[in-house]
This record gives sequence, structure tokens and C-alpha cells, in this order.
Amino acid sequence: MRVVSGIQPTGSLHLGNYLGAIRNWVRMQDGLADGEQCLFFLADLHAISMPHDPAGLRAATLEMTAALVACGIDPARSVLFNQAQVPAHAELQWLLNGTARMGWLNRMTQFKDKSGKNREGASVALYTYPVLQAADVLLYQATHVPVGDDQKQHLELARDIAQKFNNDFCAEDAPVFTLPDPIIPSEAARIMSLRDGTAKMSKSDPSDMSRINLADDPDEMAKKIKKAKTDPEPLPSEVAGLDGRPEALNLVSIYAALEGSTPDAVLARFGGQGFGVFKPAMAELVVETLGPIQRRFVELKADREALDAILARGAARAREIGVPTLKAAYDALGL
Ligand code: ADP
Ligand code: NA
Repeated sequence: MRVVSGIQPTGSLHLGNYLGAIRNWVRMQDGLADGEQCLFFLADLHAISMPHDPAGLRAATLEMTAALVACGIDPARSVLFNQAQVPAHAELQWLLNGTARMGWLNRMTQFKDKSGKNREGASVALYTYPVLQAADVLLYQATHVPVGDDQKQHLELARDIAQKFNNDFCAEDAPVFTLPDPIIPSEAARIMSLRDGTAKMSKSDPSDMSRINLADDPDEMAKKIKKAKTDPEPLPSEVAGLDGRPEALNLVSIYAALEGSTPDAVLARFGGQGFGVFKPAMAELVVETLGPIQRRFVELKADREALDAILARGAARAREIGVPTLKAAYDALGL
């Protein structure tokens, strides 16, 4: 088993990233057997597919590294690195560009969403970044890739590219690439905005009140929960009673995810109570869970040299694992 996953170092880590992705990464890392491996990377090469500020990107890469370590990613056990320090990602992408088909990329819904009405003004990188994502995982012979719902289509593309490459250029008994399987988290798959229960909690939401950031101090966390959009009704005693109340459902789901229970278990305790009771309890739970992570994050972030060293060591290990596959791909193509 080899697990590979990445996160873009844009903006700061929020509760949705933590519950929907990073907490699961930590669990996978902690559950590994001998000979199994987790590779987690900062997708800094992906960040240039959208308008960006170079100094900000470098700072965000280090900050996201600190955030991941604070959440429990252990650089001694997992390979933690940034793409830009492993040139094999970009090299393999070019090799895979020969195999990926225009028609396959044309079907990617993320490009349509992210380019919006300005298709002609979008960067070429935004169009081809699913091929870079394929390179990100195929380079390491990933067997399992934890992905959010929105990225499932890109992992299918990676499998299609791997399969076509193996078919077109490799002997049947000597494929270059492993076809990776997705791991899609079921619980807490989608944490919603605190301002709008129908929008995903996201770094790119212009309103900072919409999300709880790892970098927020406890008072800010509590304030955001206090101001979270809700309705005047008391909580029902079962989750079916939250139909048509997305904001209330979101808060109850966050509470359940944080304590490792279910929305029904939370409502069995809070049913009949209003948000005047529920929100302070929720704020306490959020601060109790994220507080220690936040303190580690602040400490780690202040030690730039240590973060540089973590990324340098991770990149060296990533190159060791990835370069043989890159060589095999060159070879298969007659290069
Ligand atoms: P964002 O949307 O905030 O920019 P990313 O797209 O960088 O986040 O996603 C990083 C990881 O966090 C992905 O695995 C993604 O599925 C997960 N994730 C992002 N937002 C949420 C959310 N609101 N709820 C659950 N998981 C999320
Ligand atoms: Na995003």
C-alpha cells in the first residue's frame, strides 16, 4: 500500500480541510504497516495555474507545511515535501501529455468551474493541471489516493492515462504505471460555510467569517461560531428534523465529526435546546480540539529553518522513490 495525496498551499488550513482531508491522512499514516508508505505534498506547482503572488506562495508553502505537521503529519514517518523541489513531477507531466487526449481534458468539470466565463483568458496550466495531478500520483506508484468528491474525476483521468500508457508503450507483463484507487472519506465529506449552509467551507470564500482557520485564536473561533448563520428554531431530537435547515445540519455535523459520534447522537443530547445553548458548547469543543493544534502551528511556523529542513529531506526521499518510474517512462517512450 502506498498512499499519495496533496494540498495546495494557498490560503490557510481550515476546519473543512482538517475534518475532510488532513485528519484522515494522519489516521492513514498512523495505521501503516511495515513497508507501506504515505507521501503528502504541498501542490505549489498547481498554485501557479491561477493568478498568484510569488512571495505569498513561498510563505504559504511553509505555513501549510507547519499546519500539516501541527495536525499530526510526522515527517519522520510520512514523506512530506513540496512539488517544486521534485522536478520529476513536471517532467513526467510532459511525458504524459503525449498520452492524455484533448477530449478527456475537455470533459473535466473543474476547468469549466474555475475558468468560468473567461475560458480564453484561463492559463494553459489550469487546463492541463489534471495531467500534472496524474503525474503526482503515478510517479510514486500510488495504490491509494485520498481525494475529495470534487477530485474524483481527476483520479479517473489518472487511471485512464496510466492504462493507455501501459497499453501503448509497455509489454503486457511489465507495465510502467500502477492504477491507483481513490479513497473517498464518507464521514464529514463536506463541511459547509458558516455563512451559507449551501456553499462549501473554502479558502477561496472572500468572507473570513465563513470558515474556522487553524490560524484563528480561540476567541476568533468562538466569535465565528457565535455569529454563524442559523435559524430561530430549537434543535430537533433526530437528524430527520433538520430537513430544510442546512445551516443547523452543518453545525451539528461539525460537532459530531469533532467528537467522533453521529449527528443523531449529538441531537439526542441537544434536542429541544436552542442555539444559545448549542453554540457555546460547540465553540468549547472546537477550541478543545483545534487549540492544541493551533499552539503547535504557531510554534512550528516561527522556525523557518526547521520547515526548510523538513521539506528538503522530504524532497530527497520523494526523488529516490519517484526517479526510477520517471526513467522507466522515458525508456518506454524511446527517449
Ligand atoms: P479549498 O476548497 O479550501 O481550497 P482544497 O481544494 O485545497 O480546499 O482542498 C484540500 C483538501 O481539503 C481536499 O482533500 C478537499 O477535498 C478537502 N476539503 C476542502 N474543503 C472541504 C470542506 N468544506 N469539507 C470537507 N473537505 C474539504
Ligand atoms: Na479549492
